[in-house]
Amino acid sequence: MKRKEEAVVLSQREISSGIYDMWIETKLAEQAKAGQFIVLYPKDRSLLMPRPISICEVDGYKRSIRIVYRVVGDGTREFATYQEGDVIDIMGVLGNGYNLKAAKGKKVLLIGGGIGIPPLVELAREMALMSSKLMIGNTIEIVSALGYRDSDTFLRTDLEAYSRVYVATEDGSTGARGTVMDAIEDFDIKADMIFACGPLPMLRSVKQLALEWDVPAYLSLEEHMACGIGACLGCVVKTTQPDAHSHVNNARICTEGPVFEAREVEI
Ligand SMILES: Cc1cc2nc3c(=O)[nH]c(=O)nc-3n(C[C@H](O)[C@H](O)[C@H](O)COP(=O)(O)OP(=O)(O)OC[C@H]3O[C@@H](n4cnc5c(N)ncnc54)[C@H](O)[C@@H]3O)c2cc1C
Ligand code: FES
Repeated sequence: MKRKEEAVVLSQREISSGIYDMWIETKLAEQAKAGQFIVLYPKDRSLLMPRPISICEVDGYKRSIRIVYRVVGDGTREFATYQEGDVIDIMGVLGNGYNLKAAKGKKVLLIGGGIGIPPLVELAREMALMSSKLMIGNTIEIVSALGYRDSDTFLRTDLEAYSRVYVATEDGSTGARGTVMDAIEDFDIKADMIFACGPLPMLRSVKQLALEWDVPAYLSLEEHMACGIGACLGCVVKTTQPDAHSHVNNARICTEGPVFEAREVEI
């Protein structure tokens, strides 16, 4: 059940140039899971729309959620000024999240590009936890391939806590030179299943890879949104099958997504 709440900022720090890491205290942590997101309402009411940000980590015991975001405009610029103790309006938990059960007994590849990497941290954490409770033969092998602009590889160590990590940088300063798809080729990475989040061109390449490997791929689409609650149709993606109710080939990323199996969507 989604609801609007007041959350308290527990901490905030800049972990990379223009990228902020914030923990907030909220009861929504009790129901949040990997791949879902919350929206934050800027205090500057002239900004109108709430801004969607993925859940990067959940601490259910401390009732807290971690978000990691890049400053790109007025909304995120305001969020970057928040300090410990500030009260902010949020709504959540939104979206469907990743289907972890499908990963049982598989070698899974998490593919993240730039600011698409944050939701993979909670995904890897939940997968590793689930795997630790599974019988031998059903456990999950987690491998991550992460793409960055340069050697400022934010969240890399977070993912190293749960998975083997391969990196690509656009300037070649660390790991493979080029995109995350170059890392997958250079390091000869193979997997039974893919989970990915990142810019649209990367997701298109991931879809292509999944078709070549003939494996399922769950893609988190973090494209533009407005209302965030399914009311405005500002976030539709074309689907391969018609919707059972509306009979059109559309899905709302904010409600039916943001995670879709690659074959379900035309991207
Ligand atoms: C489901 C979902 C999850 C997201 N998770 C994260 C996250 O974990 N961390 C993070 O940093 N960002 C995330 N985003 C993107 C984030 O919502 C936007 O960056 C934010 O809303 C921008 O608000 P702003 O007011 O700072 O910028 P605006 O003034 O609204 O926009 C500034 C510039 O950024 C562009 N922009 C805005 N939103 C997007 C977008 N979704 N994709 C590409 N370009 C955009 C605009 O076109 C404009 O050029 C997510 C988006 C979605 C839909
Ligand atoms: S953002 Fe309004 S319907 Fe999805």
